[in-house]
Amino acid sequence: MTTPNGYSRRQIALHWIVFVLIVLQYVLHEGMSEAWDVVEDGGSLGFSPLVAGHVIGGVLVLALVTWRLQIRASRGAPPPPEEESPALKLVAKAVHGGLYLFMILMPLSGIIAWFGGVEPAAEAHEVMRVVLLALVGLHVAGALYHQFVLRNDLMNRMRQAAD
Ligand code: HEM
Ligand code: HEM
Repeated sequence: MTTPNGYSRRQIALHWIVFVLIVLQYVLHEGMSEAWDVVEDGGSLGFSPLVAGHVIGGVLVLALVTWRLQIRASRGAPPPPEEESPALKLVAKAVHGGLYLFMILMPLSGIIAWFGGVEPAAEAHEVMRVVLLALVGLHVAGALYHQFVLRNDLMNRMRQAAD
């Protein structure tokens, strides 16, 4: 893996598209949760745009994150900021790794629950939604810490492409 100066236009676009999709998954989950309750009670479902949106949005996240990881493996990512302490570098690395992991596990568990009717997968989906949200919270706190405490303009990495 190489070490570029910054993220590419494509990496930045994918970061923000996936961000919007994930926000929508959380904000508009109600239709899917209600549909799942109906399925669990043995009822039948008609077409629901919210259910279709949750499935398509989630599958899209899975596809785009896979693409993102492929680009990261071939092109690489910029090194951590120099002024970051070794401990903070480790935390940032763990949080980024965790975000990637749960951006994959969330849609996978949803697909297994919805298309396979697997109850434990739905329970895992429900638990993981809290873990992903906590990681996003830590990630945003980290970005704000860099921006306003360390004042190293880290946010610019996800605004300005390096190629
Ligand atoms: C990154 C992708 C995804 C995110 C962030 C996400 C998020 C959520 C959230 C916040 C809930 C509400 C949980 C609750 O009511 O406590 C939920 C429920 C659900 N989602 Fe997803 N979802 C994603 C992908 C998917 C996919 C791809 C599918 C299926 C193809 C799916 C199927 C379901 C089902 C069946 C439920 C109801 C069961 C439950 O409450 O655990 N999800 N999802
Ligand atoms: C759903 C929400 C989000 C997810 C899942 C997410 C995920 C990620 C991941 C996985 C990386 C690492 C990229 C890599 O090195 O391959 C990253 C980098 C970054 N994200 Fe996010 N992000 C989210 C929201 C945000 C928000 C709201 C901000 C701004 C407040 C932000 C700012 C950044 C910045 C500045 C970087 C570059 C960090 C660095 O190079 O050290 N992200 N994001």
